[in-house]
Formats: sequence, C-alpha cells, structure tokens
Amino acid sequence: MQRFIDLADFSRDEVQALVALAQRLETSPEPQALAGKVLGLLFMNPSLRTLASFQAGMAKLGGSSFVITPGQGTWQLETRRGVVMNGAAAEHIREGIPVLASYCDALGIRAFAEGTDLATDLAETRFNEMAKLVDKPLINLESAMNHPCQALADWKTLDETSVPRKAKFVLSWVSHPKALPLAVPAATAHMAALRGMEVVVLRPDGFALPDAIMQKVRAAAASAGGSLHETADRAEALDGATVIYAKEWGSTAKYGDEDADKELRRGLKDWCVRNDWFERTATDCRLMHCLPVRRNSAIADEVLDGPRSVVLRQAYNRLPAEMAVLYRLLRKPA
Ligand code: CP
Repeated sequence: MQRFIDLADFSRDEVQALVALAQRLETSPEPQALAGKVLGLLFMNPSLRTLASFQAGMAKLGGSSFVITPGQGTWQLETRRGVVMNGAAAEHIREGIPVLASYCDALGIRAFAEGTDLATDLAETRFNEMAKLVDKPLINLESAMNHPCQALADWKTLDETSVPRKAKFVLSWVSHPKALPLAVPAATAHMAALRGMEVVVLRPDGFALPDAIMQKVRAAAASAGGSLHETADRAEALDGATVIYAKEWGSTAKYGDEDADKELRRGLKDWCVRNDWFERTATDCRLMHCLPVRRNSAIADEVLDGPRSVVLRQAYNRLPAEMAVLYRLLRKPA
C-alpha cells in the first residue's frame, strides 16, 4: 500500500482485511513494528481526534511523529498557484510540502473543502495539488469530499456492534449553525454501501448529496449487494433503521452562498436527533456521529448520553484503524 486516500481505492475484502489488522494490533500489540519511522502530519484545518490518534498510534507502534499547523508556530502556507505572495503566508506549499516529506517516512495531510465552488471541491483540487508534491506514502486526514480514516474506524465500530451487513443504515442530515463540508457524509455513505448495507440518505430539501457522490455510493452498493435511497421523509427513512448516522453538512443547492444557506437552515432546527426519532426504528438501533458534535443542536443530550450512542467507540476506533493503515504503509515484510 502506497497511499490511503479513499476507501474506494480498496475492495470490500481489502477493507475487511484492514479492519482485521486493526483488531489484531489491538489484541496483540507490536510496540516495535515501526521503530525508527517518522510520520509527518500537516493540518491545514483544526482537529482533535485525527491529530491525537495518529500521534498515539505511531507511538504505540514504536515510531514517532511531528505535527505542523500552519500559522500556529509555523509559517502560514500559500496554496494558490501564481499569486504574488505579499500577504500573511510566508511560504508556499510547493516548497513547504516537499521539505516536510523529506523529513518523514509518511505524510498525512488535512485540507478541507474551500466551500465556494462545488465542482472545484468535488474534484479535490486543493488536496490533489498538495498530494502531487509528496513522494512518500500519503494519508488523507480529511479532504474536501473524503475522510477515509473515519470511514475505516466506523466500519470497525459497526462490526463490533454486531450490525448485520444488510441492515438499514440511515445517514441523516442534522442541524448546525453554519455550513459544514461534505467529506464525512460522502465517505460515510460510501463506507456503508461498500459494507453491503441498505443505505438511506435522509436530508431536507436543498441538502441533497451531489450526483457525483451518489453515483460513487451507488456503484459501491452494487458491488457489495447493498442499496441506496435518498429521501426528505423522516418517518419513511427511520422506519426499521438499525443505525442512525447523524451528520451536519452545507446546502448543496446554495453551495458557497453563506446567506442563502443560513436562510435554508433557519427553519430546520427540529433536525436534532431526540429519543422520539427511535420510535419506529429497530429496538436496538444505534446512534453514530464522527464528532465533534454540538449538543442539543445536532443531537440531544438524552441520545448522546443514552445507551444507543456509540460515538465514543467510533472516536476510540480511530486509533486501531489508523495503526492498521500505518502498519500497511510503513512496515516492510520480514
Ligand atoms: N472526526 C474527526 O475527524 O475529528 P477531528 O476533526 O477532531 O479530527
């Protein structure tokens, strides 16, 4: 494995093998597996879980890591091509990224969507511009339209929670004060489809996932014997659901238009997961969310603090899942 950019680069069997490796490293630690190896982590956007879990995972495998957060102790990085650099950024990624890559054995990059032009973000323009500058194993720590590390951890959580392969998996839009990127909803729907689940995307009008994302999810569902359906009808979506995966994202109908997006979400405050969302679900229906989550805006305290929530397990599983990725990228066969 040379790059971990997109779960879609792997077959269902290959993803299952990665999950099995994560489980093995959990039960049979290999504290010297990556001795002497260095992981670089470049965060163009904030993080709690991704930043901490990759450093912890590298340490548990005997390696070490460094973190760069441009503008916070290190130079601000310019990403645009051809600009006169007379602003805040003192260094361009065209020097900065190759320099960082030269210090490490693998590099992880987080670069969110720019959030102004949907086609540009769907093309992963920002992340790909950076990825081209890396001549080492590369990990996507969350790009405009993808979060493969979260998706891998979530697959493991579903397995541990004994959610059947064919179960109904509802990815539901939930309320947030402002537009958030499409990375997690896109990666989550694809992951559940590749797992072979009955995937339902529940979202209000104006928040439909883009065609390109839906086509990719549909292809994964077809390959794994699953299905995909999209609806704005909450009662229909939640009927018989085994998993509600709550996630906030920005309006796709008004992408990049902050005021229009705000106007659309003004009347959607009731898209907060409460106990009554589970009235017609399977009795053991679980609540998932990638975190961070705004309590009582996206999900009510009563659900987050109740027995249905597996959000902390999802966050924990980032650690073994990422250890498996690091092991595959950096461990040379004996
Ligand atoms: N879920 C997730 O990626 O969390 P962070 O943004 O805190 O890394």
